[in-house]
Amino acid sequence: MTTPHTLPAWAQLQSLAHAPQPHLRDLLSADAGRPDHMTLRAAGITLDASRQRVSPAIQQALVALAEQAGVEAQREALFRGDRINATEDRPVLHVALRGDPLHTGPWGAAVQADVQRELARIGDFAEALRAGSVKGHRGDTITDVVNIGIGGSDLGPRMAADALAHLAHPGVRVHYVSNPDAWALWSVLRGLDASRTLFIVSSKTFTTQETLTNAASAQRWLTDHGCPPDALAQHLVAITASPDTAARLGYPAERTFLFWDWVGGRYSVWSSLGLPLAIAIGKEHFRLFLAGARAMDEHFCTAPLAQNLPVQLALNGIWNRNFLNLPTHLIVPYASRLVRFTPFVQQMEMESNGKRTHSNGTPVDIDTGPIVWGGLGIDGQHAYFQLIHQGRHTVPVDFIGVQNEDTPLPMAATHHAVVNLNLRAQAEAMARGRTLADTQALLEKDGLSATDAAAMAPHRSFEGNIPSHLLWLDRLDPARLGALIALYEHKVFTQAAIWGINAYDQWGVELGKTMAKAMEKAGK
Ligand code: F6P
Repeated sequence: MTTPHTLPAWAQLQSLAHAPQPHLRDLLSADAGRPDHMTLRAAGITLDASRQRVSPAIQQALVALAEQAGVEAQREALFRGDRINATEDRPVLHVALRGDPLHTGPWGAAVQADVQRELARIGDFAEALRAGSVKGHRGDTITDVVNIGIGGSDLGPRMAADALAHLAHPGVRVHYVSNPDAWALWSVLRGLDASRTLFIVSSKTFTTQETLTNAASAQRWLTDHGCPPDALAQHLVAITASPDTAARLGYPAERTFLFWDWVGGRYSVWSSLGLPLAIAIGKEHFRLFLAGARAMDEHFCTAPLAQNLPVQLALNGIWNRNFLNLPTHLIVPYASRLVRFTPFVQQMEMESNGKRTHSNGTPVDIDTGPIVWGGLGIDGQHAYFQLIHQGRHTVPVDFIGVQNEDTPLPMAATHHAVVNLNLRAQAEAMARGRTLADTQALLEKDGLSATDAAAMAPHRSFEGNIPSHLLWLDRLDPARLGALIALYEHKVFTQAAIWGINAYDQWGVELGKTMAKAMEKAGK
């Protein structure tokens, strides 16, 4: 492994960063064709990177950095199933979960067979439940499913279920409980009929204290509401990579759906862990979701680095983080169904790339993963965007929009136009800003005296030069959602490959857990 700052392209990027940089408004004005040159498309997603502070020379040096860091060879190792998660001695094969069902990928036949078997099992179970043939202990049809899980065992299916809410089965409601605060579970259960409720306990390890607390409490609620203890299994499903642990806790094998230690929790939505989503949208839509991710995988594996969406997203992020020294990254979807996308990507990026040790054990002395934050853009505009436009931090932004929308509301087209107009206007305002002189002239035109305009102009001018990506989904359907998630997964992979860190362990979450256990044992 070569540390990135010893690569020639790193030094070249440093000298480019120290040279005077044109303002984004000048980059955009000087070249009317810039949006065309800097727009890429794959798997139903368009990336407009023209508002990044990147010149052709910087772009070339960034691609050289990816080449010199061996991103392509590392990508092959990922897809081949090499044990790239060295600290846990595991392969990283979430890509196999959405592999072509008819053709075994580079991960081999054994993995392929396991994946297809569990995919068929969750598909059958989801369809049986949707058809009303999964029954509770009194023979009642299940109408409510409660997923109990946290982190990667919650965020993925929950986010995707919101994003695809227009496809949800009308007769089966799927709820999510992650927090062990009693209110979180109670506020869901108080409206439910125990004889018609199924709990899915989702946990890769099946040892997570928060999840086991909620699962035990759910079982107690079932028995208190008339379920005989020996019929509990009819109301319980386990999803785990530790089936022995689930079995020891009483979850029967026929209601235990598997995934494997080579699937990271934050990359597990494609596995059996996607069962709550498959119940909501049906197995055919779930397969389209996988197919969308596969289309992005194919693009990632075959497109040249300079035309590769995940690679470009990653490289621009590295330019912003390591060379412009911008420590945070804002993700703002403009489609309200993507309301949970930012927290989902936040876990994916920060748990993966929040690292200070290189894969070879040496300390990292460059910046790694940024602080990822955000939420729905339209709401942000009326809240924290003030700081983005005029505060002292420069915050790179990913705007995520949807081109075609078909909500069945009479004025849906008007809503959609307002949303997308705002997205484009914000990206332009952040890039171009408004100079002091232009602001003063505008104020004078509006009738202010020269003195008043001069006094007011500093408050009403905008520095601009805020870099952003515009990501447009053709529409928000299972395939494009799958492709969008895979896009960010491969971005995270590419950045880790360049920074020389392991994106797939998460030792940073352990110390707090250990201390909680020690305090529990000591009765504190
Ligand atoms: O504590 C962090 C973490 O281990 C995440 O990595 C994971 O997604 C989450 O907890 C839940 O873990 P599990 O699925 O094993 O319950």
